[in-house]
Amino acid sequence: MGVSGASGTPYAAAVIRGLLAAGEDIDLVVSRASRLTILDENGHPFRDAHAESDLRRWLARGADGRPDAFDVDPARVRHWSPGDLSAGPASGSYQVKGMLVVPASTACVAGVALGLSKDLLQRAADVMLKERRPLVMAVRETPLNGHTLRHLVTLDEAGAVVLPASPAFYAGARHIQDLVDFVAGRVLDAVDVPHTLYRRWEGELGRGSSGPMP
Ligand SMILES: Cc1cc2nc3c(=O)[nH]c(=O)nc-3n(C[C@H](O)[C@H](O)[C@H](O)COP(=O)(O)O)c2cc1C
Repeated sequence: MGVSGASGTPYAAAVIRGLLAAGEDIDLVVSRASRLTILDENGHPFRDAHAESDLRRWLARGADGRPDAFDVDPARVRHWSPGDLSAGPASGSYQVKGMLVVPASTACVAGVALGLSKDLLQRAADVMLKERRPLVMAVRETPLNGHTLRHLVTLDEAGAVVLPASPAFYAGARHIQDLVDFVAGRVLDAVDVPHTLYRRWEGELGRGSSGPMP
């Protein structure tokens, strides 16, 4: 799981909660720039030296600031510093099922498309492509310039799933967290991780205004 410096840290929190709820263990890389978005969007820092407690505090609230009644088992989240290029995920021989980059900044999209590996997050994503393992890039920017559009095509052609952090309204969202959970659920769908984060479309018009998932 990579968290880069685009807006959208609630998406990352929802995906991490979803992975843990599904019984998946996580290797986590939080880019340098995303420390700014985590601070800005959640009101508290994420520090390598305090990763365990900062992660717990980050995951404990939803996008609307309400408590999310979720406790992280620290033993199930392995945090790696983004500058640590000797970390496990920097190598193809390190066993992971795939990688989710949520949110993915345009800088991260460019770096992975060009194979820059400027930090552990980008290197781990590059490893996914070379090893032909699943890579999901939840890009968050608007509007998009031509460079980013071309980089996204490059990623698609390299086998990544390009998944814009773009909530839909057919699932009957009532609160910010419902929209966040929709995107998080689509990310988990891309790697077949089971969840109940949003109400799926079942071919019935008119339910988009009938309230969130049961
Ligand atoms: C508060 C804040 C919000 C940002 N939001 C976005 C965004 O939504 N999308 C984006 O591509 N970059 C955004 N950026 C810019 C990235 O953080 C910047 O391009 C950075 O170099 C990304 O580095 P990283 O990919 O290594 O995390 C934002 C920066 C800040 C400080």
